[in-house]
Amino acid sequence: MRGYPRYGTAVGFMVLLNALLIFATQATEGVLTDHLLVQLHEDAQDEAHQVATQHGFQSARKVKNVFEQGGFSRQKRGYRNINDIEVNMSDPLFTKQWYLINTGQADGTPGLDLNVAEAWELGYTGKGVTIGIMDDGIDYLHPDLASNYVSTHMSLNVLIFFHSFEGMLINEASVQDFRGLVKNMTPLVLGIRMLDQPFMTDIIEASSISHMPQVIDIYSASWGPTDDGKTVDGPRELTLQAMADGVNKGRGGKGSIYVWASGDGGSYDDCNCDGYASSMWTISINSAINDGRTALYDESCSSTLASTFSNGRKRNPEAGVATTDLYGNCTLRHSGTSAAAPEAAGVFALALEANPNLTWRDMQHLSVLTSKRNQLHDEVHQWRRNGVGLEFNHLFGYGVLDAGGMVKMAKEWKTVPERFHCVAGSIQEPHKFQSGNKLVLAINTEACQGKDNFVRYLEHVQAVVTVNATRRGDININMTSPMGTKSILLSRRPRDDDSKVGFDKWPFMTTHTWGEDPRGTWVLEVGFRGDQPQRGVLKEWTLMLHGTQSAPYIDQIVRDYQSKLAMSKKEELEEELDEAVERSLKSLMSKNN
Ligand SMILES: *[C@@H]1O[C@H](CO)[C@@H](O)[C@H](O)[C@H]1NC(C)=O
Ligand SMILES: *[C@@H]1O[C@H](CO)[C@@H](O)[C@H](O)[C@H]1NC(C)=O
Ligand SMILES: *[C@@H]1O[C@H](CO)[C@@H](O)[C@H](O)[C@H]1NC(C)=O
Ligand SMILES: *[C@@H]1O[C@H](CO)[C@@H](O)[C@H](O)[C@H]1NC(C)=O
Ligand SMILES: *[C@@H]1O[C@H](CO)[C@@H](O)[C@H](O)[C@H]1NC(C)=O
Repeated sequence: MRGYPRYGTAVGFMVLLNALLIFATQATEGVLTDHLLVQLHEDAQDEAHQVATQHGFQSARKVKNVFEQGGFSRQKRGYRNINDIEVNMSDPLFTKQWYLINTGQADGTPGLDLNVAEAWELGYTGKGVTIGIMDDGIDYLHPDLASNYVSTHMSLNVLIFFHSFEGMLINEASVQDFRGLVKNMTPLVLGIRMLDQPFMTDIIEASSISHMPQVIDIYSASWGPTDDGKTVDGPRELTLQAMADGVNKGRGGKGSIYVWASGDGGSYDDCNCDGYASSMWTISINSAINDGRTALYDESCSSTLASTFSNGRKRNPEAGVATTDLYGNCTLRHSGTSAAAPEAAGVFALALEANPNLTWRDMQHLSVLTSKRNQLHDEVHQWRRNGVGLEFNHLFGYGVLDAGGMVKMAKEWKTVPERFHCVAGSIQEPHKFQSGNKLVLAINTEACQGKDNFVRYLEHVQAVVTVNATRRGDININMTSPMGTKSILLSRRPRDDDSKVGFDKWPFMTTHTWGEDPRGTWVLEVGFRGDQPQRGVLKEWTLMLHGTQSAPYIDQIVRDYQSKLAMSKKEELEEELDEAVERSLKSLMSKNN
């Protein structure tokens, strides 16, 4: 289409066990795809290659299970027609990039930007960091992007390697070699071309997400299940496994950083129904426009961690995101959370340069602590503070990313303590609810205290819910933590008229209770909103806590308290510890402001 090699049928990653995978044309229920998993006896790789070749297919890799690859839909977020292209390359567009430095251009609010100037002044350009853009390819011939064109201070899009699953396949060694040559430059950007086909398969997603995990530091995704306000969908088995492997083993064990566009479904959708954006393993990014308002396509949900910038409701033609476009052109009008996710990837590259030791969780902690409310305003949801004083908003998460704040904190950062997982409680009996009569359930938990997996300082919290109703879109679910923070887990989705499937063990996620003490009573409220009377049955609520036992963000002094705590004067010291944590949180936040 754009002179790229066509997307082939050979995929090569993520070796699991001893079955061999062949792609063939295969009819599955629903959608046809040309991907098929075939189980063969062990060591049958040669035979498989032979069979595949005879039938004109290419064989690929080993996987664990055998199943047909059903095709499903994954949509690009914020796609704009080529007719929107306005400005060509010879225009110096730096001053149009208000999201980098906002001086009030295009009717914007001065100071409302990613504060990258501060990071640049400190000498960070993202060098040595590699970003993989999982999309439908990169226009690597674009003068801005082609080999060693270096645009001053741009944190993204400088050196491009093009990858396709056939043709110009580059291997990890060649990237490393090349990176050796370009030490002084900005991040390497790789295009992982995976979106340009009618249907997505689990294999393609998994392969993309696990592509060169020791080379690519940050993966950026601006796509997901259709944002039509009625889809509930997420990563399938192989992709989930690939993500888990990525965060556990990628980047030499520090974990791949997955940045996700939170979605463009607007107020009709809820990004907690998108299992990619709501995954704990992704950092999902929403967008603000240049005067601090929400974009009209923004979806809100409790899993969004932070925001960057995009456009969407301003008439000013320069209020969009200025960036490269196809055929050597540029645009001032890129939009959608599609534009927001790569901006975040750029900021994270700066942070990784400041401290390559950062783990995937460190990056989330840094985002929580350094993102700013700035002048963001959401007409629907108030800004609130959670139980440890962190300010958040249901749509923007912890606010807009602040590159300067992030690199400064990253430099001093000590890797957060080990993460633990605790099933805090589960209610499995069916409970009916109906319009005008909401269901209120409580789980009282010690958060696995006294066990190895005690979680004392929260990171993510998941409410795994099975519920069905006469109209799924009218269900709304809130959850309140023992420290009093209410997360809206599910808002009304007026277009979702499902009455059969409901949510089946769906992991609703909240980031809003970050840093809190999870011990005590959690309350779940399930009700209906909408004009018509509805009925429903909640069949399961399982509360999963994820976080650390020892306090993150605190200096040695507080850790010393903890070892004393193990010995004696337990309660007294616990109180002292809590106060110390609160103090260090406060000082971190004030340093950051
Ligand atoms: C993009 O650039 C090409 C050549 O540089 C030009 O011919 C084309 O008209 C441009 N497209 C738009 C939509 O301006
Ligand atoms: C690009 O823009 C410059 C300046 O606006 C103009 O002179 C030139 O003709 C344009 N080139 C193309 C290919 O549109
Ligand atoms: C990263 O870790 C190494 C090894 O533990 C350490 O020597 C180095 O100082 C750390 N770098 C930063 C920026 O924290
Ligand atoms: C929900 O599930 C229950 C039991 O599984 C069933 O009896 C009920 O009809 C379902 N309700 C709806 C609205 O589908
Ligand atoms: C959940 O919270 C929202 C926002 O405060 C509120 O409008 C809604 O009624 C609540 N729903 C339930 C079931 O409590």
